[in-house]
Amino acid sequence: MIFASGWPATLADGPVLLRPYHRRDARVWSAVRRMNEGWLAQWEPTPPGPWFDLNSPSSFRYVLRELRRSARIGEAMPFAVCYQDQLVGQLSIGSIVRRAFCSGFAGYWVDSRFAGRGIIPTALALAVDHAFSAGGLHRIEVNIRPENAPSRRVVEKLGFREEAYHPRYLHIDGAWRDHIGYGMTSEDVADEGGLLARWHRLSQRA
Ligand SMILES: CC(C)(COP(=O)(O)OP(=O)(O)OC[C@H]1O[C@@H](n2cnc3c(N)ncnc32)[C@H](O)[C@@H]1OP(=O)(O)O)[C@@H](O)C(=O)NCCC(=O)NCCS
Repeated sequence: MIFASGWPATLADGPVLLRPYHRRDARVWSAVRRMNEGWLAQWEPTPPGPWFDLNSPSSFRYVLRELRRSARIGEAMPFAVCYQDQLVGQLSIGSIVRRAFCSGFAGYWVDSRFAGRGIIPTALALAVDHAFSAGGLHRIEVNIRPENAPSRRVVEKLGFREEAYHPRYLHIDGAWRDHIGYGMTSEDVADEGGLLARWHRLSQRA
């Protein structure tokens, strides 16, 4: 089947750059992930083993292979997030279903040392605009645990719609956790020149 995969892609806005991972990211990726265990593990899928081992430089090879495989078949857009050319996080649009749905789920994290600078809202706006254009998608969803106030702020600042409450939705940090479902379609931002334009306008006003 022919579809607009939107991958590979490199997107930028000021100091925030989204790009595919490279094999040479292994060492920095591992260091950042290991350093941020306490910050990230509470919000991530229950890991099948020790965090330290799953986030080693050699594990990155398997992570990368899986991300590339999903991207190649049009099911994911897995971006490394860089700030001033430094790898600081990840933003993926995954579980993409095309045909009549043309939808995907966004997931993201940033190194705690770089939190609070608007990096992920900018990254999400870039990725959503790309997904709605070159990526051929119509809808992006984000599912967030009710307790995750910083992540809820990200989508609320960008104007995602709160659409659903999913009891015991995902197995996160050792248990089935409730999630709030947020969504946005391409029509929601078409009149505003896209989500990045909206984000620029709103953040200038704040
Ligand atoms: C959620 C997350 C990606 C936000 O990224 P970010 O680039 O810091 O986003 P922002 O700069 O817009 O900050 C979002 C909110 O976090 C809060 N925040 C800011 N600095 C913070 C800090 N140092 N520590 C904790 N929260 C902070 C603020 O409430 C901010 O909202 P505000 O702009 O209204 O003040 C980041 O907190 C993170 O990686 N958390 C751990 C992983 C995670 O939760 N992933 C999402 C799972 S759904």
